[in-house]
Amino acid sequence: MHGPGDFELSRRGVLIGGAASVAAGAAPPPAEARDAPPAGAEAPVLAKVGFTVNGEPHALELDTRTTLLDALREHLRLTGTKKGCDHGQCGACTVIVDGRRINSCLSLAVMHEGDAITTIEGLGTPGKLHPMQAAFVKHDGYQCGYCTPGQICSAVAVLDEIHAGIPSHATGDIAGKPAMSADEIRERMSGNLCRCGAYSNIIEAIAEVAARRKV
Ligand code: FES
Ligand code: FES
Repeated sequence: MHGPGDFELSRRGVLIGGAASVAAGAAPPPAEARDAPPAGAEAPVLAKVGFTVNGEPHALELDTRTTLLDALREHLRLTGTKKGCDHGQCGACTVIVDGRRINSCLSLAVMHEGDAITTIEGLGTPGKLHPMQAAFVKHDGYQCGYCTPGQICSAVAVLDEIHAGIPSHATGDIAGKPAMSADEIRERMSGNLCRCGAYSNIIEAIAEVAARRKV
């Protein structure tokens, strides 16, 4: 038999339990704890890897399944690089590795031994913006800003690609040097999605930097 007092007691217990869950939810566990296998699962295979990020050397021991994106965000706390789809479809996770842009969600961290990685944090600082960052601000190349780090890293690498003469699907004569045009920029930036639809402003920002650089 349960009386009204029992109900009050159990309701209080539920509320206290709920509050504890919320409190626990407010502070995410460290990456090491989240990487821990569930009880009964096989222990992860760990491997050491060393690379530089924004000129700073890092030596990590990671589950071999850790993506470069998670290594940057969860282990090095460089959260400027964003996780959008985690499936190579949105470009939010774009970083520059040895001068080439990649989707860091599609690349395992342990594959990057000795690599030089540049993230949005390494391009400029609030007091000294990279020209591409400044152009995005000037041209309102964002709304919510979630895609912006990936857009900017991609845009910086795009200008290097055009400068190096690497053709795209929009290049008319693939034997010649690609022209600097809105079509070329649009094609090369097509892997970077912007749910806010800031595309025309993004193109204006990149075109301005390209014109200054005389690609
Ligand atoms: Fe990597 Fe979307 S998070 S492509
Ligand atoms: Fe919001 Fe691009 S600025 S997704």
